[in-house]
Amino acid sequence: YENQGRDHRRRAVGAALVAAVASAGIENVVLEKHSREHVLGRIRAGVLEHGFAELMREAQCGDRMDREGEIHEGFFIAYNGEMHRVDLAGHTGGNSVMIYGQTELTRDLYEARDRMGGTVIHEAADVQPHAMDADAPYLTWRQGDERHRLDCDFIIGADGFHGVSRRSIPSNVLREYEKTYPIGWLGVLSRTKPVSPELIYARHEREFALCSLRSQVLSRHYIQVPLSDRVEDWSDEAFWEELKLRLPEDVAGSLIAGPSIEKSIAPLRSYVAEPMRYGRMFLAGDAAHIVPPTGARGLNSAASDIYYLYHAMVDHYETGDDAGLESYSDRALARIWKAQRFSWWMTMLLHRFPDHTEYDRHLQETELDYLFSSHAATTSLAENYVGLPF
Ligand code: DHB
Repeated sequence: YENQGRDHRRRAVGAALVAAVASAGIENVVLEKHSREHVLGRIRAGVLEHGFAELMREAQCGDRMDREGEIHEGFFIAYNGEMHRVDLAGHTGGNSVMIYGQTELTRDLYEARDRMGGTVIHEAADVQPHAMDADAPYLTWRQGDERHRLDCDFIIGADGFHGVSRRSIPSNVLREYEKTYPIGWLGVLSRTKPVSPELIYARHEREFALCSLRSQVLSRHYIQVPLSDRVEDWSDEAFWEELKLRLPEDVAGSLIAGPSIEKSIAPLRSYVAEPMRYGRMFLAGDAAHIVPPTGARGLNSAASDIYYLYHAMVDHYETGDDAGLESYSDRALARIWKAQRFSWWMTMLLHRFPDHTEYDRHLQETELDYLFSSHAATTSLAENYVGLPF
C-alpha cells in the first residue's frame, strides 16, 4: 500500500505539470508505470490549496472541480470534549481551501490530456534517465519485449518516493533529511453523509482522529494506530466504534457509519532531498519530499513545485529566460521546508506519542489553549493551512 499510495500522488503531480505546460504549447511525453485504470482506481487526498485550484484553472482543468468541489472557509479542532473552529477566511482575508478528491483531479487531467492530443505511454517498465548532466538527456524504457528511447530537452522526475529519478542522482550530490514517527493513520472511505460540513481534527487521550469528506455522500475518516497494526486487524465495526470514542459526544452521536469502500494504513514520515535539480533533470513532488498527512500538505507541496517549474518552463521556451530554471531548486525548497515545518507542527500538536511524558501532554494542551486564545496564533495556523504564497 505504502508504495502504491505514494505512486498515486506522483501521478497527480506529473499530470498537473504536463497539463499546464501542454496548455502553454510545450511538447511533452508522459511515461507511466501502470495502466490508466489502475491510476484512476486509487483513493488519495482531498484538500486543495486555493493556489493549486487556481493553477488547475490556468491549465484549463478546473471546470468540474469548480462545479463539484466544495469551498471550505474553516475547520474544527476538537479537544477536551469541545469543538473549536478555525475561521480560515476570517484570518486570511477571505482565503479558503477546495475539497475535491485527488482521484477526481487525476481523472480531469487525463481528460484534458486526451483533449489536447498529448501522449501518455502506459505500462512503461524499467524507465531510466540518462545524461542528465549533459546537453542531450534521454530516457530509456521497455514495453513488453520492446526497448524504447526518447531524446528530450528536460526530464521531470515526478515519479514518487520510490521512483528512479532521485536514485539516479549521484550520492555525492544528493543530501537527504528525514524524520519518522512511530505511528500510522488507518483511513476508511465510506458512502455516508459527512458528520460535519467542515473537517474535524480530534486530539484525544485515545489518540488522534480525523473526520474528512470527499463530497456530501462520501466520507473519509482516519484514526491514529500503532505502526504494528495491520488493516486486517480492523473490522469496519471496530473502526467506527474507536472513531466515536475519540470524538466529542454530540459529534459521535450523529456519526453515520457504513461499510468501508477503501481501508488502508499509512505510516507518518517527513523527508526532504536536496537539491531538486540535477543538470537537466528536475525533481517534483514525492520524488523529493514527503510530509506526514496532518494538515494535508502532501499533494499541495507537490503542486507548489509544479507552480515554479511550469513558470520556469514557460519562460525558457517563450523568452529564453532561464532564471526560473536556475533558481527552481532553491525556490521550491524554501516553500517545501515551510510545508515540512507546518506538517511536523500539526502532527506534534494533535497526536499522542508512545514516548510522551506528562510534561509533553501539558505542553500540547497549552499549545492548543494558546492557539484558540491568540488571534496571532490562529492566523499562523490559518495562513499555513490555506497555503503560503508561491
Ligand atoms: C484529508 C487528509 C488529511 O491529511 C488532512 O489533513 C485532511 C483531509 C483527507 O484525506 O480528506
